[in-house]
Amino acid sequence: KVEALQVLLLKKLDEQNEIANTSHIEFEGKKLTVQDAQSAILSLAARSMVEFERHDIEVYTLTAEGEEILKNGSHEAKVFNEICASMSGLSIGELKDKLGNTAGLGQGRAFKLGWIRKDGDKLIKNTESIEDGTPKLLAEIKEHGTHKDTKALNDLKKRKLVERNKLMYFSLKKGPHFSLTIEKLNTDLTADMITSRSWENAKFKDYNFAAEGIPPAGGCLHPLMKVREEFRKFFFELGFEEMPTNNYVDSGFWNFDALFVPQQHSARDVQDTFFLKKPAFTDKLPDLDYVARVKGTHENGGETRGIGYRAPWSEEETRKLILRTHTTAVSGNMLYKLAKNGFHPAKYFSIDRVFRNETVDATHLAEFHQVEGVICDRNLTLGDLIGFMEVFFAKMNVRNLRFKPAYNPYTEPSLEIFSYHEKLGKWVEVGNSGMFRPEMLEPMGLPKDVRCLGFGLSLERPTMIKYGISDIRQLMGPKVNLDLIQAGSAVRLDRED
Ligand code: PHE
Repeated sequence: KVEALQVLLLKKLDEQNEIANTSHIEFEGKKLTVQDAQSAILSLAARSMVEFERHDIEVYTLTAEGEEILKNGSHEAKVFNEICASMSGLSIGELKDKLGNTAGLGQGRAFKLGWIRKDGDKLIKNTESIEDGTPKLLAEIKEHGTHKDTKALNDLKKRKLVERNKLMYFSLKKGPHFSLTIEKLNTDLTADMITSRSWENAKFKDYNFAAEGIPPAGGCLHPLMKVREEFRKFFFELGFEEMPTNNYVDSGFWNFDALFVPQQHSARDVQDTFFLKKPAFTDKLPDLDYVARVKGTHENGGETRGIGYRAPWSEEETRKLILRTHTTAVSGNMLYKLAKNGFHPAKYFSIDRVFRNETVDATHLAEFHQVEGVICDRNLTLGDLIGFMEVFFAKMNVRNLRFKPAYNPYTEPSLEIFSYHEKLGKWVEVGNSGMFRPEMLEPMGLPKDVRCLGFGLSLERPTMIKYGISDIRQLMGPKVNLDLIQAGSAVRLDRED
């Protein structure tokens, strides 16, 4: 259809050199619509076959009643004609019987124009012939879209025979590549065109750099980020401060040594930890007195009451750059700063990414998120840890916790936290925790009576339970299920659903 119209436009241009107003063109028995004109013209213009200008004007058009009057004459003329047709005039009732509504509509103006008058109870003609001006006016308006007699125009508008409308049309001239035939332009350079060498003579469609792209669908929060917001809310409600965790790369010092993880510990193996190649070592260590105290504590207990690991401690090992394996690397750094800047009771939390060199399977990824909290005050006890964990997990409706002795190099005692999961029908581990060791806190310079409790859990575990996801790879990584991410509902960890 567009092509037929284009051919028509080109033919007209060929005949008359230009088209002043596309809205006058008839196409397929109807006046050309703006939409049709526009699509035909734009693609011709893109090939430089035509040049066009767009015009926006206001025009008067006839209403349905106006069209009717244009065809059959005005109401007043109908009244006059009907009265003339009867020998002795008509009563109002008779006129109404003949003309219906038109009788009422036409009488007043027929009187005003002096076409009819009353004779007793009859209406009779007052003149031999009339000139019905309204259809003539309407015909002119229909042709030109307006009329120079503005009074008449306004009068017709008031009588609702015409209305004002916005109109858009185009004027056309021949373009530099004008021709009567439309050549098919290629949109793609294909392998066939290259092998057959037909590309050499092929014409290609210009790129339309102004074309707008497909609007992206609205963004959405990843389920992990929704659950993270819930945890953040709980921590803030409980008076915690958020730790700056914007360093995925950390040193062996902060990730392990400052936490009293022995240098021979299996976690420090390449099998468990990602090591950086370039640069492989950091030249930034904290103040050397502190580093020396850490070294002493590892080797023989230093100034603590412990005896250390009784093994040599290497500075090279501590300078190694790694992807942090837990957010406790950041917690240690924060506690050191707390000691350095003058101790005060503190509650810190973080929720961020950690990395472990593990084989990926349905429940393990090489990178995941940890939720971690530490509370630091004088004379805290294991009871405070257990009590706080109960408060914390109750926030998300996890009650009836069980604690199981465990081992972390940096906490003593250490407790794994379990909760009975009704839907899964079994006890699941919900976290790991402990009281940080004096071998970690004392070299930092924290006062001897300051105790520090800490805990950590994965962000993925509660997210998977909340969203009923059994394979962690649906949540993160290249196989992530985008529908699931986009359709995922909002999270309220404190609500059963
Ligand atoms: N870092 C521990 C882990 O990765 C969690 C933890 C944090 C344990 C603080 C005790 C204290 O599982």
